[in-house]
Amino acid sequence: MAVTVLLLSGPNLNLLGIREPEIYGAATLADHVAQASDVAAGLGLELEHLQSNHEGALVEAVHGARGRVAAIIVNAAAMTHYSWSLRDALAAFEGPVVELHLSNTAAREPWRHTSVVTPVATGVIAGFGGLGYGLAVEAVGRLLR
Ligand code: DQA
Repeated sequence: MAVTVLLLSGPNLNLLGIREPEIYGAATLADHVAQASDVAAGLGLELEHLQSNHEGALVEAVHGARGRVAAIIVNAAAMTHYSWSLRDALAAFEGPVVELHLSNTAAREPWRHTSVVTPVATGVIAGFGGLGYGLAVEAVGRLLR
C-alpha cells in the first residue's frame, strides 16, 4: 500500500492566485497541490489534499489521519495564529508534522509572529513561496525514509 501524506490548507487559501498576489504570488492552490503531488509521486508517496475554511473540518481531517496517514503538511493560514483546537489535534497525531507558509510570517505583522502550530510541528518551512510545497514534501520524504 502506498504511503500517504496529508496536505491541509486553511481558510482563504482557496483564493490563492487572486488574493493579495503581491504577498502570496500568482499561482493557485491547485498549482501548489499539483507541484506537491509531483514531488510526492517521485518519492513514492501519495499526496492527499484538503482545503477548508472551517476549523472543525480541518480538526476532523487530522483525526481521520491518525493511524492511516504517515505525515501531515499543514498551511493553516490564519488559523496558525489562534487555533488551539487544530494545535491539540495535531499534537495527537503520531507522525511528522510540517508547518508550511508561503510568506515569511516572522517578517510580517506582529500578530503573525505567533504560531500555535509550531510547538507541535516537527519543523517549519516559510517564506519560499510556492517552492515551499515541494520542499515540505521532500522534508517529509526524508523523515519517513
Ligand atoms: C499564510 C500566512 C498567514 O499569516 C495568513 O493568514 C495566510 C497565509 C502563508 O501561507 O503565508 O492566510 O499561512
